Amino acid sequence: MAKTIFEKNSSGRRGFTFSNNDVKIKLEDCIPQKYLRMNNAGLPEVSELDVMRHFSELAHMNYFIEKGFYPLGSCTMKYNPKINETLVRNKGFNDLHPFQQEDTIQGALEILFELQSMLAEISGFNQVSLQPVAGAHGEFTGLKVIKEYHTAKGNTHKTKIILPDSAHGTNPASVVLAGFEVVEIKSNADGMTDLQDLRDHVDENTAGFMLTNPNTLGLFEKQVKEIAQIIHSVDGLIYMDGANLNAILGIVKPGQIGFDIMHYNLHKTFATPHGGGGPGSGPIGVREDLTKFLPVPLIGKKRDKYFLDYSHEKTSLGKVHSFFGNFLVNVRAYIYIKMLGAKGLKRVSENAIINANYIMKQLSKYYDIPHKDIYCMHEFVASGTWQKEKHGIKTLDIAKRILDKGFHAPTIYFPLIVSEAMMIEPTETESKETLDEFISAMIEIAQECLENPDLLKNAPVDTPVKRVNDTLAVRQLNVKYDGTSQDV
Ligand SMILES: Cc1ncc(COP(=O)(O)O)c(C=O)c1O
Repeated sequence: MAKTIFEKNSSGRRGFTFSNNDVKIKLEDCIPQKYLRMNNAGLPEVSELDVMRHFSELAHMNYFIEKGFYPLGSCTMKYNPKINETLVRNKGFNDLHPFQQEDTIQGALEILFELQSMLAEISGFNQVSLQPVAGAHGEFTGLKVIKEYHTAKGNTHKTKIILPDSAHGTNPASVVLAGFEVVEIKSNADGMTDLQDLRDHVDENTAGFMLTNPNTLGLFEKQVKEIAQIIHSVDGLIYMDGANLNAILGIVKPGQIGFDIMHYNLHKTFATPHGGGGPGSGPIGVREDLTKFLPVPLIGKKRDKYFLDYSHEKTSLGKVHSFFGNFLVNVRAYIYIKMLGAKGLKRVSENAIINANYIMKQLSKYYDIPHKDIYCMHEFVASGTWQKEKHGIKTLDIAKRILDKGFHAPTIYFPLIVSEAMMIEPTETESKETLDEFISAMIEIAQECLENPDLLKNAPVDTPVKRVNDTLAVRQLNVKYDGTSQDV
């Protein structure tokens, strides 16, 4: 077990030396007596090398995409190309100030303008706003567009947004935040929206419908045309949660199959950084007549000049973020799209789909996979019900054992409509060798469930930290080191 940096203390050891203090002012003259520390700060006395080794050791105990495979369904943990990181650190980007005059930031505006246009082209929408800074923020902004659309028509009675029970968890939360009421409908046995249930719930109060597509079961919802007809017949709008666009790049254009609004998750689709909650980017695309409601400003181009376009300010829903959204995240997505081009992007989706189907097929003998007879898109949902019913092993135990095998765990217990769910998404960036290693580990675990269930119940056994109390840290948050804890 690693020692804390305090336990590495060696009295008198130093990582630096100061030259003789020639500052004549006394501390007591600058800081009121009551704020002066009376006791030793208790900092560890260590050398520079001690510090470097300590933090390198901690970093290696951690898990990160450059270390290993993350089959984390829905979260799409794919490799972020290092060329993006190098290029966004360019002085030309970093020294910009958002208050600069337009004619001094023409290059930055050109990138944003092109990104807007490329995202519109990829999804088949008329116009894109880059302002929202996360997928859920995009959902909120898209729902506000729906609100503006109905307000402009005087449709004050349109208060309800319908969504299927396979929706991503952020969808209902965004609906409430945007001031609508959630109406949940069922999925059918094939994992698709239940059209009859939809018909039964649509009425004159329906403001819109929100569909995650591909949905959280990893299945492409094929009934978009029918859904759009039903929703449009009551003058509702149909919103696509496009966070899973990484499965349909160059294959389906949502704006051309009936959707009115969609958000993109640039971190999931275009490989911008994702961990730690962002900073992200969740642009939205809309059909032509909804452009006037988008946040201001958009980025415009007149002859050879780029400009901040406030021309629709009177009808716009306003601003949802300061300045232009997360500029450098958008630059990373721009580089990724330019680097791959149209053919490359299509291959991203094809490979993401092939990789997911390959794992699904290989594991289908060992785990219950509710929709294994339908090809999945970029991810699929397995279930630990066999293991639970026959051996009393929960999906949580399986996930913990996966850590011992050197992989990050998949997303578990989501979506809620599959019991003991394990949501697996390999992404396009993984090689067949890595997929095979993961498949072998999952098969070994299925075998261990039969032969040594206790091993799973106590897993993980090989990680630096063993099984933790999942909720203690939330209930008793204490991040202060009291000088006594022994273990990291
Ligand atoms: C389908 C889907 N919708 C919405 C979101 C929310 O995106 P964000 O975490 O950027 O807010 C995610 C997150 O990964 C997602 O997978």
